[in-house]
Amino acid sequence: MGNKVHLRIYRGDASGGEMKDYHVEVDEGMVVLDVVHRVQAQQAPDLSCRWNCKAGKCGSCSAEVNGKPKLMCMTRMDTFKPGEVITIQPLQTFPIVKDLVTDVLWNYGVNKKIPPFLPKPLNPDGSRRMKQYEVDRVQEFRKCIECFLCQDVCHVLRNHGKHEEFFGPRFMVRTAGLEMHPLDDEDRLKLIHELGGIGYCNITKCCTEVCPEDIRITDNAIIPLKERVADRYYDPLAMLIRKLRGKKS
Ligand code: SF4
Ligand code: SF4
Ligand code: FES
Repeated sequence: MGNKVHLRIYRGDASGGEMKDYHVEVDEGMVVLDVVHRVQAQQAPDLSCRWNCKAGKCGSCSAEVNGKPKLMCMTRMDTFKPGEVITIQPLQTFPIVKDLVTDVLWNYGVNKKIPPFLPKPLNPDGSRRMKQYEVDRVQEFRKCIECFLCQDVCHVLRNHGKHEEFFGPRFMVRTAGLEMHPLDDEDRLKLIHELGGIGYCNITKCCTEVCPEDIRITDNAIIPLKERVADRYYDPLAMLIRKLRGKKS
């Protein structure tokens, strides 16, 4: 027999809403998504939430649990103190659709602005080669599950609403994965400098702290991209060397 927990869940849509209280039984091993499903099953069949895999891999069940961006399916109920009121709200950085569901379409629009992988010409012997450390470096960025928790927590989007001027950490990760790919021949530095607004990031690392895939967003993606942008646009010697050696050298 489980214990009862006190949940406070956001109920509403684009026209407004409020936090509502629910008391539900919790069984051993449950995660936040389980108790939300139990509320749906027993008390509020019209409660909306988005989920698919329940395994931390689809990135759908993002929400704010006690004010922190989390995957509901990976947040265990036994991490809360007994008697604690647990708040569950939708992501605050994106427009609300209903209850815990937000409209994350803006992210897919940003994604389309980033040119995809462009393979370099083959070597004279017909091969394409990359070293293991180069594979490892870009592999980290491929782990992204597009949960958009990093986008949610980033103050440039969340507090300053710079959606038109800043791509956000998720898309700095995507850009880094392409720019650091040794076999890629596209050049996206102008894009992230001008349209992507990488200069807005002041390296607070909040995005890294919430990433469920432990991608070191700031250290491994954003800072190296910032260095490349700085080399190109603010370092005259590096600009000259690049001109002489070719655009991605
Ligand atoms: S490090 Fe940059 S991208 Fe990440 S949350 Fe802070 S400002 Fe946003
Ligand atoms: S970088 Fe991490 S936090 Fe951001 S969308 Fe990808 S998996 Fe989620
Ligand atoms: S349901 Fe897929 S990540 Fe939570």
